Amino acid sequence: MELVRSVIVFYVIVLILITVNNVTTSGSKQEARLLSYMIPEARDLKRALGLNEDSYLNFTELTTKYGYKSEEHTVTTEDGYILTIFKILSKCDDNSSQSYPILLMHGLIDSSDVFIVAGAEFGLGYVLARNCYDVWAVNHRGNTYSRRHISLDPDKDIQFWDYTFDEHGNFDLPASIDYILQLTGKQKLFYMGHSQGTTNFFVMSSLKPEYNKKIQLSIHLAPVAWMTHMNSPVPRALALNSRQVKEILDAAGLRELLAKHQLTHFLTEILCHFAPDAVCGMTYTLSTGLQPGSIKPKLISVAFGHLLSGTSTKNLLHFAQLIVSKKFKRFDEGLDGNMKRYNTRKPPLYNVSQITSPVVLMSARNDLLSNLKDVETLTSKLPNLVENYIVPIRKWSHVNYVYDERAQEYVNPKILEYLKRYNV
Ligand SMILES: *[C@@H]1O[C@H](CO)[C@@H](O)[C@H](O)[C@H]1NC(C)=O
Ligand SMILES: *[C@@H]1O[C@H](CO)[C@@H](O)[C@H](O)[C@H]1NC(C)=O
Ligand SMILES: *[C@@H]1O[C@H](CO)[C@@H](O)[C@H](O)[C@H]1NC(C)=O
Repeated sequence: MELVRSVIVFYVIVLILITVNNVTTSGSKQEARLLSYMIPEARDLKRALGLNEDSYLNFTELTTKYGYKSEEHTVTTEDGYILTIFKILSKCDDNSSQSYPILLMHGLIDSSDVFIVAGAEFGLGYVLARNCYDVWAVNHRGNTYSRRHISLDPDKDIQFWDYTFDEHGNFDLPASIDYILQLTGKQKLFYMGHSQGTTNFFVMSSLKPEYNKKIQLSIHLAPVAWMTHMNSPVPRALALNSRQVKEILDAAGLRELLAKHQLTHFLTEILCHFAPDAVCGMTYTLSTGLQPGSIKPKLISVAFGHLLSGTSTKNLLHFAQLIVSKKFKRFDEGLDGNMKRYNTRKPPLYNVSQITSPVVLMSARNDLLSNLKDVETLTSKLPNLVENYIVPIRKWSHVNYVYDERAQEYVNPKILEYLKRYNV
């Protein structure tokens, strides 16, 4: 135990030194500072500490471990970001080509891994592949798998981080959809998103309504558009002080937050191994409304090995703007910035009435981030809403869809039923 403690202390000191040493300065303006550091993955150490290997195995390693074939694809967006998309191959050889491919989009500070970390039994990616669908799990710009650009360097160029969920919807999704359709020779696909992965869809199909004709059906787990009634205390407090918070982060050179190669991820992963319920489960309870004990402690540890996959500070600021303004609107760049970018004084609203493709929502009574009242605002404006399914468990919350084994009873069958119905 003494040895382990010494190793940890040593490692933390090394990390801090690396952090301090790797401060890189870039750009011409004095406020354009970018702090960037990369800590080693340290699998040996994690193994020595007894972490479950599913916590640090990557998408390809996990799918292989559980007996599923997967492929790694790369897509370049119109504005130069290079994204990684993982394909899980259908488990059925003969008839899979008859169905539409399924695109899965993860949520905030998350990655494609969210759809498989729950394991083979009820992890949505596996469930879909077993039911004969080809599954394409996209990683949006800036996360651990998509931290690349044709000309910008994420470690040196501040412009790399100049994006929000608006760009995920406006650029990342169209590029991914076109790539999948071109490769499969299909006209349409099924879209499924979790949390911010739903926001991305609402953004895309209102800014680029021509993409509606490429969507056979979209299914949204824990949909996020309006955030007026978002009653998660910490995000709300941060949102109300977002300008100050952003200034502090900018001054520190932090444009990328909660990324996999940063110290926060490393410490969280270790902490969640030793105190899954007390610390990490509780974090979920406070931030999303998760009922304590509803996700197995072992899975909470594994989940936190994959969460914190990185986002931009600007993205968090955009969510803060939704909370404060009570509107679902594009990023507010300030008066001059708005004139330049949108040619209007205020940022335009996303017009979800443009979403003509059929939409299924799945929402929950105890979801602090996706409040039912806000979901109602959304449903009242969607012209082609098929159903807003409220999961019939009173304490169901934001992350239960992806980590709770009861999904196999209350969520996944419903998804499969809809896919089958629209698989014509
Ligand atoms: C996943 O891990 C394997 C084996 O360690 C490695 O070859 C591969 O490049 C990794 N994939 C990604 C996308 O990081
Ligand atoms: C494909 O065939 C299997 C049986 O081999 C069947 O259970 C499944 O529903 C079919 N899937 C599709 C998408 O048609
Ligand atoms: C939103 O889209 C709908 C449907 O296309 C259209 O009728 C309406 O005028 C739009 N609203 C705004 C404010 O542009």
